[in-house]
Amino acid sequence: MRRAFSLRVALVAAIMVVAVSAGAMAVELTMFFNPVEAPIIRQVVADWEANTGHKVNILTSPQSSSDALALFQQQLAAGTSDVDLYFIDSVWPGLIGDHLLDLKEYDPDNARIGDHIPSVVGAYTVRDRVVGLPLMLDAGMIYYRTDLLEKYNKPVPETWQELTDTAAFIQDAERQAGNANIWGFVFQGRAYEGLTCVALEWLASHGGGTIVDADGKVTVNNPNAVQALREAASWVGTITPEGTLNYAEEEARGVFQSGNAVFMRNWPYAWALAQQEASPVQGKIGILPVPKGGDGEKSTGALGGWGMAVSRYSKNIDIATDLLFYITGREGQKKFSILGTYTPSIVELFDDPDIKQANPVAILDVFMNAVPRPSAVTGSKYNRVSSEFYNAVHQVLSKSATPEDALKTLDANLRRVARGGWK
Ligand code: GLC
Repeated sequence: MRRAFSLRVALVAAIMVVAVSAGAMAVELTMFFNPVEAPIIRQVVADWEANTGHKVNILTSPQSSSDALALFQQQLAAGTSDVDLYFIDSVWPGLIGDHLLDLKEYDPDNARIGDHIPSVVGAYTVRDRVVGLPLMLDAGMIYYRTDLLEKYNKPVPETWQELTDTAAFIQDAERQAGNANIWGFVFQGRAYEGLTCVALEWLASHGGGTIVDADGKVTVNNPNAVQALREAASWVGTITPEGTLNYAEEEARGVFQSGNAVFMRNWPYAWALAQQEASPVQGKIGILPVPKGGDGEKSTGALGGWGMAVSRYSKNIDIATDLLFYITGREGQKKFSILGTYTPSIVELFDDPDIKQANPVAILDVFMNAVPRPSAVTGSKYNRVSSEFYNAVHQVLSKSATPEDALKTLDANLRRVARGGWK
């Protein structure tokens, strides 16, 4: 009897301890994510919540990389502890890295960080601190309408000139046949980070360099860059609607997905969305590498991508770091990659049969050959460099400056920004 009583007391006490510690331990983390991808990360995070008992509140950031950066910079500068994790663009570490946790301290034997493509981890490393880990890789590519190229018996273009000619031909023929809303080519033409990526592709594919070279030298004012921008400006109002000058990724996708463009420049994410059941172009699209400027030149998509970072001001650094390693780890990346046709950064996942089946866009070579923006070399000044560049390109596209004048002024402005060193 006494024994039964004391057992019961012990049991009740044990239940209380478990309940109290579970209650005290379960936390709610807050994490920013991009609005387009938020429903997908929600599903990845749900697995972690089920495993750990913690909760994650997902806030959506502005869709544009430039607008999201401005918001996060404000929050981090204020040292807010309201946000534990941020979804960060691979070109931001030099800009906000001081506010982010060094993940190396939480991965002493390199078991997590070591899984990722080393050069990509390099993009998230600032002064030897690994301030984020990649969730996915991006590379610029061209989407096209397989049905229209077939209808007019046109081969897939390999150079910009071929793309221009085919776009113009099909646009004219379709309009004559009564398809009044069709355009040849849409892309991200708004003055923001997306235009930096697109115009970098134009430059690099014409042998016009990468704005600032790997040694930190400003190289943007050169004849090939002039030629690349002149060609791009000639599209606007002919094969490209004027409205493109205000398009980011989603606006371009909207036009293409509703069937109103022959070609579109975008990132891999657009594949999953354009191939949905309800998409008017489902089953009618293909993807191509970004064209070459001409013979002897290279096809080069811009390298992009997003990762996760933990704020140094989080009150739950250990748990937030655990979530980060889950999302960016094998399980998290695999699910994210399959649901959204994103390309993983974990080398081993490139051979994963489930990913290969779901995601035709994850071609390792495309990502290995993609051209990076000069964010590592320009460090904390990258944002200035990029905004000077996209504003200059925007002026050329909107015909308010000639390519020669815009690049000359840009060159002078960038040299001024470079003064005193890049770091
Ligand atoms: C994509 C890329 C990112 C880039 C952005 C520009 O999201 O992954 O790196 O900065 O597009 O719009």
